[in-house]
Amino acid sequence: MSPFSFVLLACLSASAFASLRQIPVVDGIIGGVPNVTTTATNKLKVAAGNVTTKVGQLRVTENSGVCETTEGVYSASGYGDIAQNKSIWFWYFAARNNPDTAPLALWFNGGPGSSSMIGLFQELGPCRITNDSSTVVLNPYSWNTNANLLFIDQPVGVGFSYGTLDVGTSQEAADDVWTFLQIFFSDSKFASLLDRDLAIWTESYGGHYGPTFAAYFLSQNEAIASRTISGLTLNLKVLGVGDGLTDPLSQYPGYITYAASNPYHPLVSSSVISQANSSWSSSSGCKAQITACNNGGSNSVCSSAQSFCNDNVLGPLAGNYDVYFILSLNPDPYPPNFTNYINSVASKIGAEATWSMSNGDVYANFAATGDWMRNSRPDLETVINAGVRTVVYVGDADYILNFNGVEAMVGALDMKFSDILKEEELEDYTVDGQAAGLHKNAGTFSFIRVYGAGHEVPAYTHGTLHYGQAALQMFTQIMANESLSST
Ligand SMILES: *[C@@H]1O[C@H](CO)[C@@H](O)[C@H](O)[C@H]1NC(C)=O
Ligand SMILES: *[C@@H]1O[C@H](CO)[C@@H](O)[C@H](O)[C@H]1NC(C)=O
Ligand SMILES: *[C@@H]1O[C@H](CO)[C@@H](O)[C@H](O)[C@H]1NC(C)=O
Ligand SMILES: *[C@@H]1O[C@H](CO)[C@@H](O)[C@H](O)[C@H]1NC(C)=O
Ligand SMILES: *[C@@H]1O[C@H](CO)[C@@H](O)[C@H](O)[C@H]1NC(C)=O
Ligand SMILES: *[C@@H]1O[C@H](CO)[C@@H](O)[C@H](O)[C@H]1NC(C)=O
Ligand SMILES: *[C@@H]1O[C@H](CO)[C@@H](O)[C@H](O)[C@H]1NC(C)=O
Repeated sequence: MSPFSFVLLACLSASAFASLRQIPVVDGIIGGVPNVTTTATNKLKVAAGNVTTKVGQLRVTENSGVCETTEGVYSASGYGDIAQNKSIWFWYFAARNNPDTAPLALWFNGGPGSSSMIGLFQELGPCRITNDSSTVVLNPYSWNTNANLLFIDQPVGVGFSYGTLDVGTSQEAADDVWTFLQIFFSDSKFASLLDRDLAIWTESYGGHYGPTFAAYFLSQNEAIASRTISGLTLNLKVLGVGDGLTDPLSQYPGYITYAASNPYHPLVSSSVISQANSSWSSSSGCKAQITACNNGGSNSVCSSAQSFCNDNVLGPLAGNYDVYFILSLNPDPYPPNFTNYINSVASKIGAEATWSMSNGDVYANFAATGDWMRNSRPDLETVINAGVRTVVYVGDADYILNFNGVEAMVGALDMKFSDILKEEELEDYTVDGQAAGLHKNAGTFSFIRVYGAGHEVPAYTHGTLHYGQAALQMFTQIMANESLSST
């Protein structure tokens, strides 16, 4: 038994935790809430060896040769020690083209509690895990083609990060990420990136993380400008949110719609749909509980809403299909497992802790606060209104954060481009002349529904396009401060 699973048993007691993908399963309920009153706050995830931390500094391994094997492309991995017992893992890849002028994109996976190495090895990184999980191959559609890329495992406890697990909300996570970035940009190796355009790209629970982090960075910039705090101003220019959970009240009806009717096949029988529909709308049902949470509800109100809605609405409506890609029965073996591979290269890249896809203690901390059901749409509106170019994207074969829910969230956006957005129709989005999805633009806001893509959009393909080709076109256009446009 690994030290990690020992910690889980100690903290979740009778609740059973499993993680197939980005969003954990508790007692058989995807996105469920562990039925224990004590949380893992102040529990510790320890480093595997005897490590000396350097608070306020980076510990860096340069050019490990793992993953990015393109000649002359710089990479670095390691830790930013944000406190004595809080070490945040990062992995940086310079752009393959023009790294000295390219912008910087941060990448965060969701969970909560899931590692951003998922994005690196399964989706958009310089290499991809092979189907037999044995090795990696170079990804010609990596997002570091024209951007510098920084993957961050957060909060502490996630992936290779380790230390005290004292984060249980997206807001607390934002503060630690901001502190990490202060350390990152203070290091002479990375200081020249501070003035470049900065982007946050994220997915899944990142529908909370992205807007919350971005709004927090902007408010910290204001506090620096008014000399309330001291620090480095973050040059935030872009936010990208894929298949995200942002506004549960707008999004949960999407499960009912999508299960009944989507571009592929119904997921469950009509009796399952009508039962979930009454769980949604009954007087003490899911809708009422999310509403109570959003109207100043306590942590326990929000936590109960998460438990009820995921047990009675999200869970049953998936039927036997993989919730991340409904063209496969559950579980889809794709994208392939890379746990053994990443642990096999851990020492080469300077990692000091045992990696797992998802940390159950971190997840439990968030489940206890009910952060899941809180609404991140106001932060998204703030960020768009502040002039940060924003794209919301979603794969049309994803159930767990499906396009019906995401489009309802987009439709509910109350921001300076709302009027234009409402007048726009969804139009074809083509890549090299091939249909790749539907999109619309309004000011510096864009939305795209990607054909044939599951939850991890860049991991998929459509028609005769290459894996990740459509996602890279989207990323490149937005990073160049352009609206989405067909090619
Ligand atoms: C937690 O819930 C599971 C599933 O409902 C149940 O088997 C277990 O006994 C519960 N544990 C506690 C401590 O209540
Ligand atoms: C991935 O592989 C690891 C190591 O073999 C295993 O512990 C884990 O359960 C696997 N994950 C999935 C989702 O199959
Ligand atoms: C850990 O490393 C420090 C610094 O090198 C050393 O002083 C200490 O004795 C080591 N502790 C153990 C348990 O090896
Ligand atoms: C860090 O963790 C160690 C080991 O659990 C503990 O002894 C120490 O007090 C902690 N330090 C801080 C600053 O939390
Ligand atoms: C890997 O598996 C996926 C999903 O089954 C499949 O579409 C793809 O063609 C496979 N890739 C290779 C290189 O065989
Ligand atoms: C869900 O219930 C509402 C009434 O509460 C009804 O209007 C609607 O048609 C139902 N939807 C489905 C898909 O059954
Ligand atoms: C991005 O484009 C918008 C709209 O065209 C423009 O207002 C803004 O100044 C541009 N931002 C940068 C950093 O060039």
